[in-house]
Amino acid sequence: MRTSAVTGWGMYVPERIVTNDELARSVNTSDEWIASRTGIRQRRVAAPEDTTSSMGIRAARDAIRGAGLTPGDIDLVIVGTATPDYPFPATACLIQDALGVNGGAFDLEAGCTSFMYGLSIASAYVAAGMYRHILVIGSEVLSRILDWTDRSTCVLFGDGAGAVVVSADDRAEFQPQFVLGSDGSGAQALTLPAGGSRMPASEATVLAGMHYVHMAGPEVFRFATRVVVESTERVLTKAGLTAADVDLFIPHQANTRIIDYAVRHLGFPEDRVFLNIDRYGNTSSASIPLALCEARAQGRLRTNDIVVMVGFGAGLTWAAAALQWTGSPLETSAAPSHRAIVTVP
Ligand code: UT7
Repeated sequence: MRTSAVTGWGMYVPERIVTNDELARSVNTSDEWIASRTGIRQRRVAAPEDTTSSMGIRAARDAIRGAGLTPGDIDLVIVGTATPDYPFPATACLIQDALGVNGGAFDLEAGCTSFMYGLSIASAYVAAGMYRHILVIGSEVLSRILDWTDRSTCVLFGDGAGAVVVSADDRAEFQPQFVLGSDGSGAQALTLPAGGSRMPASEATVLAGMHYVHMAGPEVFRFATRVVVESTERVLTKAGLTAADVDLFIPHQANTRIIDYAVRHLGFPEDRVFLNIDRYGNTSSASIPLALCEARAQGRLRTNDIVVMVGFGAGLTWAAAALQWTGSPLETSAAPSHRAIVTVP
């Protein structure tokens, strides 16, 4: 087994900022309600020419360059998204072609957890020696599937893309560990009902607003608080770590109240928790890679740090990961680590 690590990262967010006050001019809501119930103050909204693939391409180019690679070095492209350009072909194929990658490409749909699922696959393929460099992208244009007259959903989401390169990397002292979960009995709690084979697109489905996000918010909230705590605890145990070993905790940016609850129960100090939900809202699959990129840019994520990430979303699905941040091979050589890490198989 080879050890895998994130060796490149990149992000892209659309320029247009929509504040809570701006939304309050078109739906019956307020900055006070949105900020106090969710932590969101603004979100990015894609321009008409932006697509999931175009945003993913921008994020991916930076990730590949940052890893010291060219597209020709990438063996596989995995795109996590709930808002693909088309039901088929896969958005990953469009990105593979635009980048000039000579390898496989597929989309992965696990709701807001898609990026984390993709990361686990990339990590396992690299560890198995099947591939050397895998591009994992989380990209979403959620603004196109929101009912902008429904205050219970339209205030929550935002658009953006994040990408990482996962490579074989002997600098990492342990193989990333993952805990994935699914509970399909909660499938109807967060869904886009029409446009699939069960309810094909028709005039009636469009008139009934069935091509928009439908969410039972409080139900998803209760599910999220439970699985974030449980899966994070499980991945720490699997990696042979305790909460005190974690340098940075990156939760899916869906609601600060979910994050606060989890952080209290897990015992992470506040300064080890990364938040950017105030500026981007819930960007679904893009949320964790965007946070990773910003944490790195702000110096919150340093070489050899232990980072724990946890995502959750439609499915219902969840995934937690624990890994060591080795950084790009282009950066100065890693400082020696003083950790004693025992990974539990
Ligand atoms: O990434 C995918 C995973 N998704 C999530 O993690 C979402 C999880 N759920 C949540 O974050 C929260 O449930 C929400 C933020 C969606 C809702 O917050 P809540 O505290 O659970 O509110 P609620 O749905 O129980 O609604 C409370 C009240 C209702 O009014 P009444 O019935 O008490 O009069 C809603 O109609 O707030 C009302 N409301 C709003 N008021 C102003 C709902 N949305 C809004 C709004 N502005 N935007």
